[in-house]
Amino acid sequence: MAEPQAPRRPRAAPEAPPGALARTRELAAKFAEVVDTDVLEWDAAKTPRVPRARVPVELVRVGPESDGAWLELLPRGRRSEVPAFLRRGDRGRIALVDGRFAGWVWLSRVTHRDPWSGLVVRLAPDEAYAYALWVEPEHRPSGVAGVLMADVQAEVHADPALTRFYGWVDTRNRESQLLLRMLGLKDVQHVKRIHLLRRLGRQVPRSAHPPYGPLSADGRHRTAGAPGQ
Ligand SMILES: CC(C)(COP(=O)(O)OP(=O)(O)OC[C@H]1O[C@@H](n2cnc3c(N)ncnc32)[C@H](O)[C@@H]1OP(=O)(O)O)[C@@H](O)C(=O)NCCC(=O)NCCS
Repeated sequence: MAEPQAPRRPRAAPEAPPGALARTRELAAKFAEVVDTDVLEWDAAKTPRVPRARVPVELVRVGPESDGAWLELLPRGRRSEVPAFLRRGDRGRIALVDGRFAGWVWLSRVTHRDPWSGLVVRLAPDEAYAYALWVEPEHRPSGVAGVLMADVQAEVHADPALTRFYGWVDTRNRESQLLLRMLGLKDVQHVKRIHLLRRLGRQVPRSAHPPYGPLSADGRHRTAGAPGQ
């Protein structure tokens, strides 16, 4: 007869070395990441805020009709982005500090798919969409973005054909969230987007709350002829 065996103690799972979980999460996020995204709007009937930058900022407004000399103001890496913006008829403003590129923002009046995020902001004829807001790290935060965005607000406010503009921002992008809310933009919709390999973005289906808005298939005003997602 076999001797009765002492009950086996359950083996403890091997402990992960400190930081391993964080590294695994970081690696997984490099492959596929879901990003919470807020869509905000600004009502064109509001009076734009007067910006107060802490450095002297010069603005250069550009568009499809401008001669190409302004392209020289851009860092080389930015120039390749411009032709797609101009083909849509979008208008940009470039901020210069001491005569050098410090940041920019663009305003579009046509529905299009943003190639990086994969988001499609669907616009009615009385709507616009501000995108690509960027300030060079060495100028943050000194009010440059405030000057750029206030100029967008002034253009939208002065245009009788426009009733609002939209912008979207990652929920976790604290600086931009503070900036846009300080400028008076209000939440209109929330969506999730997924990024593969930190590129190839796409809106997660059925993630839009509320279900009707500028990032829904029908758009806020059910615009006709919008490209698919
Ligand atoms: C977000 C971004 C454009 C802000 O540019 P910026 O020139 O530093 O912003 P400003 O100095 O004009 O700040 C305006 C307001 O935003 C808020 N803000 C901006 N940066 C902040 C920070 N680091 N801490 C706290 N508040 C901040 C403040 O409310 C500030 O108002 P105040 O100056 O009266 O306090 C800049 O950080 C950036 O280019 N980030 C990377 C790209 C990006 O996230 N783009 C936005 C996509 S929606």
